Amino acid sequence: MKILILHGPNLNLLGTRETDIYGCKTLDEINEDLRQRAEGLDVHIEEILQTNSESDLVDRIQAARGRIDGIVINPAAYTHTSIALRDALLATGIPFAEVHLSNVHGREPFRQQSYLSDIAVGIVSGFGSESYLLALEGLVKRLNQEGTIRKRSDP
Ligand code: DQA
Repeated sequence: MKILILHGPNLNLLGTRETDIYGCKTLDEINEDLRQRAEGLDVHIEEILQTNSESDLVDRIQAARGRIDGIVINPAAYTHTSIALRDALLATGIPFAEVHLSNVHGREPFRQQSYLSDIAVGIVSGFGSESYLLALEGLVKRLNQEGTIRKRSDP
């Protein structure tokens, strides 16, 4: 099973950025935790990308079509603004989990709107860096279940 991890804008600053909200772990540390958890789950993280660019995220999602089984994405601020990301995810049809370190529903009203949540397999928000690991586990579990169901229903 091939998984793509996407981190949106400003997440490169984790570790120093608003640590009271986002915690002290750096993105490299989070990525290392994800790699270890993926190993434990026996899945392959094909690529991890952090970018501040919306178009890079769209390009990467498009390129994943037919090559990636699932995406764990923290779209960061684009969660609340990007129809382009929504359309890219809809167009590729790749199952994805939406992740937030903070509890976006306990913050400013504009963070409570997501252009992605209703089309995600699931959302994990508010558990700090642990959100990523919970999202990876949940997504992999779902993909494994669907694989089993698909196989079972095969003629
Ligand atoms: C975030 C929440 C977003 O509202 C914010 O713009 C971010 C990070 C989170 O992980 O809590 O950059 O996605």
